[in-house]
Amino acid sequence: MLLATETRACVTPNRLRSLYVIRMAEITLDLRTRPKGEAYRELAEHVDVVLDGINDPIAGMATISALVHHAFGYLWTGFYRVAEPGRLLRVGPYQGMLGCLEIAFGSGVCGTAAAERRTVIVADVNLFPGHITCDARARSEIVVPVTDSRGALLGVLDIDAESPGAFGPRDAEGLEQIVKWFARTINAS
Ligand code: SME
Repeated sequence: MLLATETRACVTPNRLRSLYVIRMAEITLDLRTRPKGEAYRELAEHVDVVLDGINDPIAGMATISALVHHAFGYLWTGFYRVAEPGRLLRVGPYQGMLGCLEIAFGSGVCGTAAAERRTVIVADVNLFPGHITCDARARSEIVVPVTDSRGALLGVLDIDAESPGAFGPRDAEGLEQIVKWFARTINAS
């Protein structure tokens, strides 16, 4: 998970903070073998430590994309931001192959999650009517709405996985907790 020499027992939030300050690039968070609840708790801890003192939504999106993407080895992890409220999403920071640039509210998985302001889990993208394909290898997907401190929709967090059925209620719960960073930190209205 962390450095080869680190054990979970000694990684307190302060220790974690100093690790990031001293040797950020050496930290590899790999949560693939961990139980989901534990993995998301640890991920949330890393998000809080790395983004401590930051209140910039783009910095938050970039950092959360990188942490989530590499921790679970997904195909595509990133954000679509509200460009025109109620009408249009535009791609934000992400990790993975090129994503499509704009998605209308109500279109695809992202536009559905944005229009309905609810997390959407798609176990098989071939069975989701209107699914928008960015990477043909994607088999399953989860999209989580992201809101600011006043409840305004900032965008959605979109994750694609190469295996079918990669996401379930624990992922929804874990990722909804992770994106609460925006509700705690960002006032865009
Ligand atoms: N599959 C998404 C489009 C975005 S890409 O997956 C990065 C959708 O149907 O909205």
